[in-house]
Amino acid sequence: MRVRRAILYMPGSDWRKIEKATRLDVDSICMDLEDGVALSRKEEARETVVKALKTLDFGSTEKLVRINAVGSGMEEADLDVIVPFNPDGIIIPKVSSAADVQWVSERLVELEKTIPDLGEPIHILALIESAIGIVNLKEIANSDSRLKVLIFGAEDLAGDVGAVRTPEGNEVLYARSAVVTHAAAYNLQAIDMVATDFKGMDTLFQESRRGVELGYDGRQIIHPKQIGEVQRAFTPSDKEIEKAKVLIEAFTKHQERGVGAFEIDGKMVDMPNLKAAENVLRKARAAGKLD
Ligand code: COA
Ligand code: MG
Repeated sequence: MRVRRAILYMPGSDWRKIEKATRLDVDSICMDLEDGVALSRKEEARETVVKALKTLDFGSTEKLVRINAVGSGMEEADLDVIVPFNPDGIIIPKVSSAADVQWVSERLVELEKTIPDLGEPIHILALIESAIGIVNLKEIANSDSRLKVLIFGAEDLAGDVGAVRTPEGNEVLYARSAVVTHAAAYNLQAIDMVATDFKGMDTLFQESRRGVELGYDGRQIIHPKQIGEVQRAFTPSDKEIEKAKVLIEAFTKHQERGVGAFEIDGKMVDMPNLKAAENVLRKARAAGKLD
């Protein structure tokens, strides 16, 4: 699975920011056609994104485009204009049902026929950010083979359920946990909510670690300043990697002797700890920290 510790958004209408993104060391970028773009500039944004896909070299950074929501009346033109220029993936916002994902997937099948040097099929990333999206998570997560990622959108979700956002985030915890749980159940990647406060750098790392603790693989960001801390938060530290290696080795040795549960540093270790340790190594490998 591709590493997506941070997905950096920028308005699709903002050439300067898109161009700047080619010089940033970020796992994924998302050129936005949805809420980051004023209604009067939707067409201009599409043209700017096409120009970027045609002319800019983003290196190993994944190129994503967020289209307008299915049912907005703008989604079809977004896909028709953008997809022929071969983005790596499409983010669908405000996904409310499996049908939303399947509709986009069917359009992609048609539009991909126009791409001469299509490598991998274009991926779909579904943004879950409404009450109905949470209620229908199971069918959405199981909707289509192009779907690789569930993304949690806290701000829209809070607006939809009438919650008041707080720094602690207890008001969105149920939805945030539901998204990561469904992603795990259907072998999808999970991307956590946007870090909107790009001035509050001192709390960014710890806040991002909350997502790691819940099981998320990465999070959405809006400013280049956030890349370093967020990608660091979603990369296992040397200490965590070492601890995972020690645990796996001890586990294997005990298994060979017919022992399932044993002790490290005063704590019991058994099968769930092995899985957790393997997850740490998987994430370290994905981030290029291990062979
Ligand atoms: N992507 C790429 N470059 C960005 C960027 C982004 N998201 N946000 C800021 N930059 C660049 C600026 O262009 C500027 O570059 P320059 O010095 O070469 O001109 C530099 O980083 C510093 O930017 P700064 O002045 O601190 O921020 P700003 O006032 O220009 O922009 C925001 C602040 C919030 C408007 C901007 O970060 C932004 O547009 N973020 C994305 C918003 C979005 O897409 N929302 C929808 C999805 S949630
Ligand atoms: Mg939104």
